[in-house]
Amino acid sequence: MMAETSVHRPGAQPPDNRVSERAAESTFREVDDTERAIPAIEFREVTMVFDDRKVLDNLSFKVMKGETKIILGGSGCGKSTTIKLVLGLLKPDSGKILVDGEDITNYSEVEMMRVRKKIGMIFQEGALFDSLSVYENVAFKLHEQGVPEDQVENEVRRMLRFVNLEPAIDKMPAELSGGMRRRVGIARALVGDPKIVMFDEPTAGLDPPTARTICELAMKLRDLEDVSSIFVTHEMNNLDYLTSEYAVVNEAGEVVFETEGEKLCLINCKVLMMRDGQVIFSGTDETLRKADDTYIQKFLRGH
Ligand SMILES: Nc1ncnc2c1ncn2[C@@H]1O[C@H](COP(=O)(O)OP(=O)(O)OP(=O)(O)O)[C@@H](O)[C@H]1O
Ligand SMILES: [Mg+2]
Repeated sequence: MMAETSVHRPGAQPPDNRVSERAAESTFREVDDTERAIPAIEFREVTMVFDDRKVLDNLSFKVMKGETKIILGGSGCGKSTTIKLVLGLLKPDSGKILVDGEDITNYSEVEMMRVRKKIGMIFQEGALFDSLSVYENVAFKLHEQGVPEDQVENEVRRMLRFVNLEPAIDKMPAELSGGMRRRVGIARALVGDPKIVMFDEPTAGLDPPTARTICELAMKLRDLEDVSSIFVTHEMNNLDYLTSEYAVVNEAGEVVFETEGEKLCLINCKVLMMRDGQVIFSGTDETLRKADDTYIQKFLRGH
């Protein structure tokens, strides 16, 4: 459950340290470590062809449990295609796609519906239903499932609190700013507490402080809820926030963000850079910044 106060451990640990972290916890909780070793998402040599063009060319990568994988890459390099493949909205021409160790490559639409229940999707434009209120937008999935209204209201309020938007519950999307709409989209995606969340350029077109709040939400999910995610972006500020800060709950019970500083590799966030459907970099942000590849350096500098 996504209770605001339930924290398993402050700060994120790298996947490699999970075993010792879990060992520390095992005094009060039984933990299956073999389960954690299975990636939340795995692509194995995935190729996707559109109109005789390889949009993804033998793409392989893993997103470990609790990890945020930032996907960087220029327009048209295949980032959204990658996300659509995870959701089963597209099928690859070759290769395998696994979600929680389950090979979904050849799943039917009915089988994919079960898999999609554990995945939250945040679309670039927020993709709200304009004729429905904030409440009805966030409640949409629950209404479809016929959940009783008092439970729906509790859940909607909990999600809107998570994105700091409870006061907007009765507003219509047209009355909201772009950043608020994006946050409602996030609240809607988080209904049902998905353990995997995909962000497709969630801060595009937002001002820096609003973009920052979206990154904070992603860090809260990563560090306080153990969510695994793919975060597609080409904004370097997002990369900086997600790789250098982590969320913790302080003694007053408030969520605060701390900087990693010199404590290297505490944050469970890795970077994948794509170019023309291939991985050109995979690793930590520190290694990325040191890479001597001219394309990577130009990308990081922004010119
Ligand atoms: N359904 C489709 N049919 C044909 N071509 C497609 C389709 N979807 C994507 N493409 C092409 O595949 C390439 C990759 O598209 P994709 O949307 O994955 O890029 P992207 O990395 O998300 O780019 P952006 O940063 O602009 O969002 C593009 O050249 C695009 O035109
Ligand atoms: Mg895209």
